[in-house]
Amino acid sequence: MAEQQHNLSGIEKIKQASDGLRGEITKSLKDEITGAIREGDQALIKFHGMYQQDDRDRREERAEKKLDRLYTFMIRLRLPGGFLTADQWIAMHEIAGQNSTGVIKITTRQTIQLHGLVKSHIKPTITAFSEALLDSIATCGDINRNVLCSAHPGQSPIHEEIFGYADKISTMLMPKTKAYYEIWLDEEKIADKKEEEDPLYQDRYLPRKFKIAIVIPPNNDVDVFTNDLGLIAIIENNELKGFNIAIGGGMSTTHGNPATYARLGTVIGFVEKGEQTMKAIYEIATVQRDYGNRSDRKLARLKYTVDKYGAAWYKEEVERRAGFKIQDAKPFSFNERRDYYGWQQNDKAAWYYTVYVENGRITDDEKQAVKTALLEVAKTGKCSFRFTANQNVIISDVAAADKDSINAILEKFHITSYTEKTSLIRKNAIACVALPTCPLALAEGQRYMPVLIAKIEPLLDKYGLAEQDIIIRMTGCPNGCARPAAAEIAFVGTAPGKYNLQLGGDRVGMRLNKVYKENLDEPAILTELDSLFKSFASERTNAEAFGDFAMRKNLVTA
Ligand code: HEM
Ligand code: SF4
Repeated sequence: MAEQQHNLSGIEKIKQASDGLRGEITKSLKDEITGAIREGDQALIKFHGMYQQDDRDRREERAEKKLDRLYTFMIRLRLPGGFLTADQWIAMHEIAGQNSTGVIKITTRQTIQLHGLVKSHIKPTITAFSEALLDSIATCGDINRNVLCSAHPGQSPIHEEIFGYADKISTMLMPKTKAYYEIWLDEEKIADKKEEEDPLYQDRYLPRKFKIAIVIPPNNDVDVFTNDLGLIAIIENNELKGFNIAIGGGMSTTHGNPATYARLGTVIGFVEKGEQTMKAIYEIATVQRDYGNRSDRKLARLKYTVDKYGAAWYKEEVERRAGFKIQDAKPFSFNERRDYYGWQQNDKAAWYYTVYVENGRITDDEKQAVKTALLEVAKTGKCSFRFTANQNVIISDVAAADKDSINAILEKFHITSYTEKTSLIRKNAIACVALPTCPLALAEGQRYMPVLIAKIEPLLDKYGLAEQDIIIRMTGCPNGCARPAAAEIAFVGTAPGKYNLQLGGDRVGMRLNKVYKENLDEPAILTELDSLFKSFASERTNAEAFGDFAMRKNLVTA
């Protein structure tokens, strides 16, 4: 049996006393005196897919005027594998315009989120989602989050079968509480609480967030090892055999807390497709539920549970609960980690256009009218949409006969030319949201990354490195929402305008980077990169990737 845990953290008590994640959310919503919701409920709404935030750019001005902070909410959709129909796209476009800032934000976990909802707009937003057959259940909070799957149907002739697992897994790991439907959609209260008894999540849910991704080698586009649970599709003779399972990935660290660290998943073996796979996933979650740390949230992710008890123990415990042996891992390899920009065809002759969307922000700006273009594309009704874990969107499942008309729309709004002319370094870059909405941001993320890249591009040009496929990422704090620890070059915010420069991750996401220099401001970052690119250009061995070069030269130690 799991250890008895004392000193439950505050959030554990809130979850336990929440009456199936209801808390006092209904009362909080009715309270017109504040734009915020009650403190205990702030932890609970995460399980319904929301974060309470405030506009940090306006804190000072509002404080001077003795006004409350400008509270708004971020809401995130549950989209297993990141898929939307054309009609759902149109619905999202309208909802974003009516109820939020208007920006449709593609996240690093293949979903979309809306920012800037005021409290009274949450219910109408969720109602509109529901009318479009969409929901935001369990997209934040201590629970299984949006399940990722390699995005591009051209990645394998059996993409559809593998992609189907994202939905199956998401459904299996949904909470049983009907709170979401009661609170946000005004459905009848259930008469018999037994209906929502939850053998998986019980009354305290998981100790911390739980992230799953499915990948189709050889492209590690979803960064499978950064997840609590990674599934690596094993395909033999064009047939899905099952999955290698990796456990214990996670990016987050806390500055100044050496007990926290980024970790890549450990492959513990292979399970056959179908029932074995589903059982293994379920029991990996139950072991974490029973053994994860519930007193210190900073040490509560599955990665710490694996390291505390050992991967071999974890595997045996899963086997004991599932009632079968996990087999030896099957061979697999990755050779890239990227999106396939532009037009590509899959084996069924359908066409796919991957649009480059800077930091996943779908909006119309001076560079491209991507929001209007995608609405026009959706209105043709001749495609669907898939999001990538690199914050891009794929216009999908286009018949050959419709390709030209869709391409004409993309050209009209400069999407094709923008995607084509954008530099490789920019296309490979991801940054988290950070300021002004994220309460945890220490430095800028998506607002600053494009500016910094514009200064990095000339350095690469100077040393003839523009064709290098370098993976570069930025976050506003060490929580790691843009998976910085798995990048070749990462900037992790430490204070306004200051970043740790991290180097040495590999190109395919199987080696972490390490801190190279701390607390650099922009001039220092550019000076460092200039000298690093200079030596890389002259001292790299044939086709050596930048991250590998940094390791070989012992710029950081593995
Ligand atoms: C202690 C750890 C973490 C905390 C407390 C945390 C908290 C947050 C918060 C508050 C936001 C909202 C920012 C905004 O939209 O204004 C956010 C965004 C997000 N986080 Fe995290 N996060 C953590 C770690 C991670 C990690 C490790 C990942 C994935 C590798 C991740 C994935 C995301 C994604 C996909 C978003 C959406 C925004 C985007 O794509 O840029 N988070 N996180
Ligand atoms: S990495 Fe930090 S700053 Fe960026 S979104 Fe995540 S929590 Fe916020």
